Amino acid sequence: MKAVIPAAGYGTRFLPASKTVPKEMLPVGSKPAIQLIVEEAIAAGADEVVIVTSKDKPSLRAHFDVDELWHNRLKNKPEIDAEMVRLEELSKKISWAYQYEQKGLGHAVLQAEPFVRGEKDPVLVLLGDALVSGKKLASVEMAEISRKYGNASVVGLERVPLEKVSRYGIVSGEKVEEGVFKLGSLVEKPSIEEAPSDMAIAGRYLLDPEIFTLLASQETGHGGEIQLTDSIQRLLSSRSVYGYVYPGKRHDIGNPQGYFETLCAFNNHC
Ligand code: UTP
Repeated sequence: MKAVIPAAGYGTRFLPASKTVPKEMLPVGSKPAIQLIVEEAIAAGADEVVIVTSKDKPSLRAHFDVDELWHNRLKNKPEIDAEMVRLEELSKKISWAYQYEQKGLGHAVLQAEPFVRGEKDPVLVLLGDALVSGKKLASVEMAEISRKYGNASVVGLERVPLEKVSRYGIVSGEKVEEGVFKLGSLVEKPSIEEAPSDMAIAGRYLLDPEIFTLLASQETGHGGEIQLTDSIQRLLSSRSVYGYVYPGKRHDIGNPQGYFETLCAFNNHC
């Protein structure tokens, strides 16, 4: 399985901190968020993880650089050195793509296309500013559901209060089993009146590779951006797409409040 992590956004909701520290590099304990997301992708079965970044965020790539010097410095700290060895193991599975203009999430995912060309299985997409806490990793569960439904596309979902639907991509679907829905429609940031349900797309996707063909011809949508949600809506005309309300909680590290909540959830610091 291939995985794509879009992490090239401006991070304006976290300025001025995100001016020089990309939000994806914010620490959650001793690891930056992006490392936890790479670990989730690999746990779900990814053999290659494509991180889509921008030239303004060199620290992402630097974090995964293999630097032998660290092993000398950590000679007397074997436990920390073991963490660095584990990081090097992750690095071997990472490829880098660049988004030169921030034209939206769909456009960012499209930049990974050369790395997934020829893929037959669904591609895992994990938002670089979304972490999911809980007993089981959301992507691992979604991969299981995808296999159960014949390698189908699966979109991770969470229920949100109705007054917040206009912040998210919202889906409608027919229940096929507890927590699993066969999707009928998706709409990006609808008003309360337009929202087909309270189920919001929540940072994790397993998408049939046809999504890349659709993204290449995707017109701009909400906010003048190329929206991944709009291409998934088009995918529905040729493929079944399922939604899974995963039991974990999604955390948005892209704004200060969401980041504090993430620290509480992951480190029991509150
Ligand atoms: P967001 O919309 O949360 O990120 O996209 P943003 O654009 O950085 O946020 P603000 O509004 O300016 O604060 C979700 C994920 O998609 C990536 C982001 O880096 C984030 O991980 N993204 C978004 C891109 O890679 N490129 C884009 O053009 C937009």
